[in-house]
Formats: sequence, C-alpha cells, structure tokens
Amino acid sequence: MEVIHQRTMFDFHGVSMSKCFTDNWDEVQNFKARPDDILIATYPKAGTTWVSYTLDLLYFGQTCPERQASIPIDERVPFLEFSKPSVPAGKYLADRLPTTPRLIKTHLPLQFVPKSFWEQNVRVVNVFRNAKDNAVSYYHFCRMSSGMPEPGDWNTFLQNFMEGKVVYGSWHDHVNGWWEKKQTYPKIHHMFYEDLIEDTGREIDRLCSFLGLTPSAEEKERIVNEVNFDNMKQNPMVNYSTMQSMDQKVSPFMRKGKVGDWKNHFTVAQDEKFDEDYKQKMKNSTLQFRSEV
Ligand code: A3P
Repeated sequence: MEVIHQRTMFDFHGVSMSKCFTDNWDEVQNFKARPDDILIATYPKAGTTWVSYTLDLLYFGQTCPERQASIPIDERVPFLEFSKPSVPAGKYLADRLPTTPRLIKTHLPLQFVPKSFWEQNVRVVNVFRNAKDNAVSYYHFCRMSSGMPEPGDWNTFLQNFMEGKVVYGSWHDHVNGWWEKKQTYPKIHHMFYEDLIEDTGREIDRLCSFLGLTPSAEEKERIVNEVNFDNMKQNPMVNYSTMQSMDQKVSPFMRKGKVGDWKNHFTVAQDEKFDEDYKQKMKNSTLQFRSEV
C-alpha cells in the first residue's frame, strides 16, 4: 500500500493539497455552520492571524480578557480543515467552541467550503495580500513549519507558486474565486493586508461596520495597539511559539510584517517572469493589489 507522508502534496479535485488539510474531508464537508458564525477565509500567509486576533478582541476583548491571556489563537479561532494525528482536529475544536459568535478560520478555495456556511448565510471575512509578498511569506513559512512540504530554494518555490504547485493550489485561482463570490453573496467583507498596514484603525472601522459593531474610541485604540506587529510578535498567545511543528529559529512566524519585502527576494529576472505570468492569469480579474504602500 502506498503511504502518503503528511507533507506530500497531491492533486485533490484539481488543487494541490496535503494530508493535514484533506484527511478529515467528510467531517469537514458535513460541518454544521450556525447563522452567527464568522468565517475568516484566506490564502495562506495573507494576514489570517492578524485579522483573527482583531476579531477575537472586537468580540471578546472586553467580556473575557482571560481568554486572550491564556488560550492560543489557534484554539480561539480553530482552523477548520486542519487535522493531524495527536492533535485535536480543527472541526472538532470548532464544534466545541463555547463562544457566540464562533470565529472559524479556513484556507480552503471557495469551491471546497462546506455548503452549510452558504445555507446558513454566514458572514465571511476575506483577507487578500499581494502575490509577491504572499509568495515570500509562504516560502519562509514552508521552511519553518514541519507540516508543510519542503519548499526547496527560493527560485524553485517561486516557480511552484506561479504554477499552483503549493499547498492550497494556485494563488490566482484562490483569490479570484473568493473575490467573485461577493457578486452573488453579499455577506462577504474583503480586506487587504496592504490597507491594514496603511491604516489599521480605518480598516477596523470598516470591519466593524460590516459586522454591526460599535466599539468605543478607547476600545478601538486599545485593539489597534494590541494588534500592532511588534506587540503580536511578543505575545505568546498569538505568535505561535506554543506550536511544536514550527521552528521559529529557522524563521519566526511573525517574520517581517511589511509590504514590499518581495523586493529583497525577487531578482530582476524573477520579477519580470512573475509579472508576465501574473498578467496572463489575472487578465480577466477586476481584483487590484498594491505591492507597495
Ligand atoms: P511575513 O512573513 O511577511 O512577515 P498568516 O497569519 O495568514 O499566516 O500570515 C502571516 C503573515 O502576516 C506574516 O507575514 C506575518 O508576519 C504577518 N502578520 C501577522 N500579524 C501581523 C501584524 N500585526 N502586522 C503586520 N503583519 C502581520
């Protein structure tokens, strides 16, 4: 019998995936969403943790501060499709969340999202990040996380990223799928990593108006401060230092937190090739990104 290693990538209904994110498939597909759930949906490394923590503070920062002090973010905001022997599956954690709303994270491309989310008309928060910084961040994450396929060197990884041969598949397909969903499903809020960097307070205001939340000025100020990169980097409950599968000495989870770090990685030749490929793949898309702010 063929044994598939946890880190091995394979084609899963047309998308490159690995066991950790597909092993619990039937359970995940049968997930029972509730109308007041909030789904945080992103391509990996787009700013998921940043927005997850912001949402957690908006909903529970006042009422249960001990939650922020003692429960790691991956338990407060379970990763729906994640499953690995020896740790509780994301679906299991999500089912048992005691909070209302339940904040749930997924990296699934649109077509893989369990149908119950749509049936229950669940609110979705998407976070998008420009492809170049997203690729760089993903590369370093694959280096430090033992759960991800070996990235090889930067040039190899970048080529694979362009071809969609990374876990969760093509960045282009992923972002376009979620972007277009808004045309038929209004309960989606689109956020951009670059906008968050530019003005976190403004983006929190927009998020609150989507969610119907009205934090006081002091509360908002406190959240803006808490979710600042340096504070999150120091915070063991959100910096993933509790996660054994991540070697933060290879590359910290809270790595740089910048727009434009791609310039430190892309050669001129890589940049030209990437732009050419990008133009082709995004030619029918209205989705616009900023690669610098
Ligand atoms: P870098 O590797 O570019 O530093 P995700 O949570 O989706 O895995 O995304 C991780 C990326 O978001 C990392 O990017 C991380 O540093 C960045 N990030 C997390 N919190 C941030 C914050 N408060 N401000 C800026 N960037 C943040």
